[in-house]
Amino acid sequence: MRTAAVVGVILLAPATFAAPQTTSEEYLNYSVLDTAPASSNVLQSDVLAAAAAINQQIYQSITNPTQWKKCNRNNAIYRREWAAFSTSEKKDYIKAVQCISKLPPKTPKEKCPGCQNRYDTLRKECGYKGYQPYYNWPRWASNPAASPALDGSATSMGGNGLGGDRCTNQTFYGIPTQAQPLIEIPHGAGGGCVNSGPFSDWKVNLGPVFTDVTCVAPNPEQDYTNGLAGLGQNTRCLRRDISSWTSSQWTNDQQVTQLLKSKDIKTFWYDMQGGENAFSNNFMGVHTAGHFTVGGDPGSDFVSSPGDPWYFYTASTPVTYANSHRFFFHHGQIDRTWWTWQNLDPKNRVNAIYGTVFLADPTAANATLDDSMNLGYAYPGTITIRDAMSTLAGPFCYSYI
Ligand SMILES: *[C@@H]1O[C@H](CO)[C@@H](O)[C@H](O)[C@H]1NC(C)=O
Ligand SMILES: *[C@@H]1O[C@H](CO)[C@@H](O)[C@H](O)[C@H]1NC(C)=O
Ligand SMILES: *[C@@H]1O[C@H](CO)[C@@H](O)[C@H](O)[C@H]1NC(C)=O
Repeated sequence: MRTAAVVGVILLAPATFAAPQTTSEEYLNYSVLDTAPASSNVLQSDVLAAAAAINQQIYQSITNPTQWKKCNRNNAIYRREWAAFSTSEKKDYIKAVQCISKLPPKTPKEKCPGCQNRYDTLRKECGYKGYQPYYNWPRWASNPAASPALDGSATSMGGNGLGGDRCTNQTFYGIPTQAQPLIEIPHGAGGGCVNSGPFSDWKVNLGPVFTDVTCVAPNPEQDYTNGLAGLGQNTRCLRRDISSWTSSQWTNDQQVTQLLKSKDIKTFWYDMQGGENAFSNNFMGVHTAGHFTVGGDPGSDFVSSPGDPWYFYTASTPVTYANSHRFFFHHGQIDRTWWTWQNLDPKNRVNAIYGTVFLADPTAANATLDDSMNLGYAYPGTITIRDAMSTLAGPFCYSYI
């Protein structure tokens, strides 16, 4: 029903808004959408995403007609929210994640002694025919544990951790650190091992590195000088503590819409990450809040969180994952949010860039469009940031619904 509503907006929007209101560049000035009648079951952030989808296509077809012949609205991949997947599509995805977790790792043993599986190329090696789903934070902000992605059913990515199995008497998770919290997230109803849904026997092998869960055994590799810290084998259960306290405050529709209205990339970037003085003024930002909506171990660990199938990334290549925002349920929505912000004003924003080459290290070099990225052992080859900026203009060819 939500998908139908969004598609409805996409189909209606050009007639309702675009024709009389377009700029000289012919794409939607989203400020007109502020006057659109509010409807209780349409999220304002989804309305902006629908406008972004239209703008991106108009912009591409006008500014880049050669590329538009190759990648256009008829052959682009459309990524959808998990809740919009059919039961059999959900089962196919789950089966592929389970399959890949049983394949041997690609990273050599000496580079990652704890790597136990491959857990990456779903389509190539596990026969998955669909595309990466995302989780639409604001849709489920008031009760994430009831979302189809986290409800513990056979078609979810697993449910909450057990409530009676908390490993410590710790009463809160501290942001940015347990020792010096600016925000204290209280325990949710979980905290222990996940025992419902298709990933109840999931094993976490790597980390912890910076976990908020105080009782997890330390990783056997603690040497920060040889690049192996956190990469020793430390097999344990998957823990979660789903937190509506977090999601209802920092990933609701009003917060996401405010982020999407950021006037420039610097504002957008900082607001996504918890503000310029990170986490002060009791502001978590959608990125961190998305992690702590699921929490637990390794969900609350910024470095090894991809070991939870919720975040879905190659557990065998944790070092370089920061460059890859195009995967994951949560990071899929991060990508969709960035894509929406870009395409609300594509001419000025598609190539807007801010920040250094290492997240949270302001002394590192500023990233530029000509820098290249790679995924280490997980995927061959490099790509420049410039080629990765647009989901339609570079080697990717996808959009969002
Ligand atoms: C969109 O419209 C607003 C208000 O009419 C105007 O201030 C703004 O400059 C416009 N933006 C673009 C990108 O045309
Ligand atoms: C938690 O607190 C209870 C009551 O104070 C105590 O009996 C128990 O040993 C504590 N458990 C841990 C793991 O510290
Ligand atoms: C990086 O960019 C910021 C502005 O975006 C600038 O203030 C800063 O000096 C730059 N740093 C370096 C090392 O060039």
